[in-house]
Amino acid sequence: MKNTAIYPGSFDPITNGHIDIIERASRIFGGVVVAVLNNDEKKHLFPVAERLAFLRASLKHLPNTVIKTFDGLLVNFAEKCGTNLIIRGLRMVSDFDYEFQMTLTNRQLNPDLETVFLMTDAKYSFLSSSLVRQVASFRGKIGHLAPPAAAAALKKKFGGK
Ligand code: PNS
Repeated sequence: MKNTAIYPGSFDPITNGHIDIIERASRIFGGVVVAVLNNDEKKHLFPVAERLAFLRASLKHLPNTVIKTFDGLLVNFAEKCGTNLIIRGLRMVSDFDYEFQMTLTNRQLNPDLETVFLMTDAKYSFLSSSLVRQVASFRGKIGHLAPPAAAAALKKKFGGK
């Protein structure tokens, strides 16, 4: 795919905010590789196979999107994919410190890597995977926060509406 960009993350689980960013990216770039971090050190609620399944079920409407896993350094995965473009979503100013740190770390590792930030729709500016997990764990409503595949799995895990 020409002009391919990577959208990396833990996606534990994918939220409607992630989908909003992927839809925006798929309109801008020739292809989007949604790259799911498969890192044993991090404690995830869902194993990587389930996180991938939620992504597959939720991104069927975007034909120029492929879903992959990666471990180790993102810069190495980008090299393997043959691209130097990374996409990250920005919600609020509070995201900035973390994103700035990651971007500059990646740039030190590979000066050719460019991170492109896309702003999420205002209605998702508060939304994160951890918030969705927390609401679900207390059996709150999450149907408007996460796509059906992820919401159903959360409801199965915790019960609730
Ligand atoms: O959206 P997330 O879950 O905060 O994503 C974080 C992610 C996966 C993009 C980041 O942790 C990452 O790139 N991990 C791979 C290891 C790496 O390359 N670290 C150096 C840059 S911080």
